[in-house]
Amino acid sequence: MTDHYAVVGNPVAHSRSPQIHAEFARQTGQDIDYTRLLAPLDAFPATVRKFRDEGGKGLNVTLPFKLEAFRLCEPADSAVDAEAVNTLTLVDNTIRGDNTDGVGLLRDIQHNLHCAIAGKRVLIMGAGGATRGVMGPLLRERPALLVVANRTLDKATRLVAQFEKFGKFTARGISALPDAGLAGATFEIVINASSAGLNVEMPALPAGVFAAGALAYDMVYGKPTPFMKFAAAEGAGISDGTGMLVEQAAESFLIWRGVRPDTAPVIAMLKREG
Ligand code: ATR
Repeated sequence: MTDHYAVVGNPVAHSRSPQIHAEFARQTGQDIDYTRLLAPLDAFPATVRKFRDEGGKGLNVTLPFKLEAFRLCEPADSAVDAEAVNTLTLVDNTIRGDNTDGVGLLRDIQHNLHCAIAGKRVLIMGAGGATRGVMGPLLRERPALLVVANRTLDKATRLVAQFEKFGKFTARGISALPDAGLAGATFEIVINASSAGLNVEMPALPAGVFAAGALAYDMVYGKPTPFMKFAAAEGAGISDGTGMLVEQAAESFLIWRGVRPDTAPVIAMLKREG
């Protein structure tokens, strides 16, 4: 019998998750279908419950519902850290929530891009949901330093305070302290988790912020962002977030089906298609 899954969001038409999961299912011989589910902005819980009542087994959750999904479910540890959920598993009457974004980012950086995080100086830009989702997993890898830089310093400071239990790291506001904020500091891994990459802007970054051989990672996928262009001009190695997208999907697939698909051919396929 075919098991039903979907990605739920608003908007959701652009989501590449159906293509990714169809490929995973083909590869692993799992009998599933995976569709897009548009939830009205004021009816996310009802949409999830209806999907479950009709026999749906699991949902990936995308914008703007990740926080609402957290409130609706019984959260796993990964979701508690992130206070957000991107994977719902619907079993009988329970709705279990996981957050696979952090693991997805880690697998892409460490496994696919062969860049260890332990002992490195890491800078993450942005202090919104995207950053929150990956903080716990990043800190567990024990970087030498993790700096959260954000246009609004307050927000970065609050985020840091919440994660202080994991270890030592600092928050700095770039725009609030234009050059002084990061001047002179160099990082081996710089991650753009601000939504600046989605438009033509980029977060303010001083020249020289990249250590020799640094990796500049933008969580956005698709065409090169201003951040990636800046990083390339500064001599850093660059990556967009295609690998993270596929890896977080693979982690959801593993939770649901108990089998880990091979992500490399799927990442290559998405990159070819652009
Ligand atoms: P998400 O959940 O996708 O992270 P969010 O919670 O709205 O979205 O957060 C967006 C992040 O991108 C914030 O850290 C925001 O900075 P502020 O806290 O100062 O608003 C950051 N951001 C958005 N546009 C930016 C820009 N042009 N330059 C720098 N930072 C930007």
